[in-house]
Amino acid sequence: MEIRNVAVFGAGQMGGGIAQVLAQNGYAVTLVDIEARLVEAGMKGITASLAKGVERKKVTPAAMDETLQRIHPTTKASEVAGCQLVIEAIVEDKTLKRNLFHELDAMVPPETILATNTSSISITSLASATKRPDRFIGIHFFNPVPVMKLIEVIRGEQTSDETVTHAMELALRLGKTAVEVRDRPGFVSNRLLMTTLIEAVRLLQEGVASKESIDTVAKLGFNLPMGPFELADLVGLDTCVNAMEVLHEGYKDPRYEPPPLLKNMVAAGNLGRKSGRGFYEYSKH
Ligand code: CAA
Ligand code: NAD
Repeated sequence: MEIRNVAVFGAGQMGGGIAQVLAQNGYAVTLVDIEARLVEAGMKGITASLAKGVERKKVTPAAMDETLQRIHPTTKASEVAGCQLVIEAIVEDKTLKRNLFHELDAMVPPETILATNTSSISITSLASATKRPDRFIGIHFFNPVPVMKLIEVIRGEQTSDETVTHAMELALRLGKTAVEVRDRPGFVSNRLLMTTLIEAVRLLQEGVASKESIDTVAKLGFNLPMGPFELADLVGLDTCVNAMEVLHEGYKDPRYEPPPLLKNMVAAGNLGRKSGRGFYEYSKH
């Protein structure tokens, strides 16, 4: 099967970025969100990202137009029926994702591959919401998608070799480097990242240093592009807490427990860059 048409569910920061890189690399993309204003916001984000590329002379104006023309934004899930691959990038919630995959399973042809961009949730448990666990896989992109080179490919217990090959080939065509990992809570990336973010919040709560100082230690001491608080704001504090809860529940290990400070920030609606306020303030464009 040749993959030409890809559906992306969720037009948030990840879904938008995934749709952009797919379209830039010649795929026809159907981008789905639940409300027109959310799909429009997703398209606005993609347009701004491509315009930045044009400004920096990395994307030609013609390539920008072609890329945008390859993306069909919609709120109708039924419009994805002709896709060979679906990539789900909706909120990090197991029940919502399982419900979506159950619906999709009945909607798309049997050969269509269903993939999730989940940060932490078991691929095998999401696959069990469908009748095609062999054609189900984790294709985990990194934020911001147009910039980050890694794709973590997560093989569920029943994922076929053929499905893994399709995911590896997709990563190659997108100019990314794929790393295959086994299906464990948080995979490799978010076991590493979430423990760092939790430790940073604990340092802050204990008054060891300010958030600015902790970020500076990470940036200047380890040559990281962002400190843990800047990175948590980029990822989204809701996504971080959800991923920490999956790790905590999955390993029953207190080191993964989301810190109360972080949970309170999410409860207050301070989600990071996407809400305009997290550990830092962001002006909304
Ligand atoms: N679209 C396209 N290109 C973009 C872009 C976007 N949205 N954002 C930045 N870029 C490009 C710029 O064009 C620029 O390229 P050149 O230097 O070649 O011109 C380059 O990326 C750097 O951008 P900027 O100079 O504007 O900004 P910066 O130097 O401050 O870098 C950053 C921004 C790339 C976000 C950098 O700070 C960074 O790498 N941060 C860490 C990101 C990270 O760790 N992501 C992983 C998050 S965890 C995750 O994703 C997994 C999970 O499940 C939670
Ligand atoms: P986000 O909050 O920016 O966007 C999620 C979008 O999904 C929202 O626009 C929401 O309206 C939409 N949505 C919810 N239910 C839907 C449905 N049934 N159909 C279609 N759209 C629906 O979230 P995000 O940061 O883009 O994260 C999306 C997924 O990617 C999560 O699983 C997250 O864990 C994962 N992820 C996030 C990052 C990150 O850095 N933010 C990195 C890698 C993976």
